[in-house]
Amino acid sequence: MNWPAHVTIKEVGPRDGLQNEQTFLSTEGKINWINQLSQTGLKHIEITSFVNPKWIPALADSLEVAKGIERVPGITYTALVPNRRGLEGALEGNVDDVAVFMSASETHNQKNINKSIDDTFPVLREVVKEALSGGKSVRGYVSTVFGCPYEGHVAIDQVIRVSEHLFEMGIQELSLGDTIGVANPKQVQEVLNILLKRFPIEKLALHFHDTHGTAVANILAALDMGITTFDASTGGLGGCPYAPGASGNVATEDVIYMLNNMGIDTGVNLEKLLGAGSFIQKKIGRSLPSRNLQACN
Ligand code: HMG
Ligand code: MG
Repeated sequence: MNWPAHVTIKEVGPRDGLQNEQTFLSTEGKINWINQLSQTGLKHIEITSFVNPKWIPALADSLEVAKGIERVPGITYTALVPNRRGLEGALEGNVDDVAVFMSASETHNQKNINKSIDDTFPVLREVVKEALSGGKSVRGYVSTVFGCPYEGHVAIDQVIRVSEHLFEMGIQELSLGDTIGVANPKQVQEVLNILLKRFPIEKLALHFHDTHGTAVANILAALDMGITTFDASTGGLGGCPYAPGASGNVATEDVIYMLNNMGIDTGVNLEKLLGAGSFIQKKIGRSLPSRNLQACN
């Protein structure tokens, strides 16, 4: 297999992890956790989302969180936004990077952001344009790349169509989401084989949820294809409330354990990360899926 010298891990726990939690973590708790994550060596942290708080009550305090965290130089702090209103919040919160999102499958897009795919394009086009002109970098997510909770199989042409639109709007990186954690390594390589003929490899990231325990194997399959950016969530927290049955993202600790021990540079200190994982586990009040977190307890 082909192993790269360096891999970039984008921590999404404070957003993807917390958005699905029933326990409302206090604003102070969120800020404290993000500040701990900032000391681990992670260079990218998605701190919150500026979405309708009626849809995602767990992140209703996004502005306070964005304003309250300590900014460590060299770390990019991202917020997820669905529309112009969300962008205004993200700009007021002075994040460095804005992430827009939509789905490859029509039904998930509709359930998640209350719009058809075609009606989403003009909304995101405006957000991307304004964010770029406000000096922010912009990342795009395409969800349900490997399967949809409502439609099952998702045709690769739908993934290509949405991805092309997002790149054409000006996004600088595209994160391919296995929203419900159904992908397997063979499928990952088949999908990448097709997408890599159209999109530059350095602009692609992968975002695996770990519902069926295949996320780490999927990362290895993508590494072998030359992908070097992955999203992960400390503790393995997470899930999309509009993707029934889906569990959390692959645990950051488990990815860092594997990569660091393979001699692949991540820049992340596992001990410090486990400290941040223990902190959030205590706050959430139940055992989290991260294998390394359980192994150290
Ligand atoms: P809508 O109800 O269609 O919005 O929601 P609307 O434009 O009709 O407005 C209705 C109300 O929402 C208005 O308030 C707006 O002001 C308000 P009212 O006048 O009724 O009091 N509103 C907002 N409030 C705060 N922030 C905003 C905002 N926009 C409108 N930005 C909307 C449309 C997109 C807002 C809604 O559907 C929503 O918030 N969806 C978010 C769903 C979500 O966050 N899902 C999880 C993240 S995606 C994910 O997890 C997948 C990912 O991880 C990748 C993967 O795993 O594949 C990224
Ligand atoms: Mg996700």
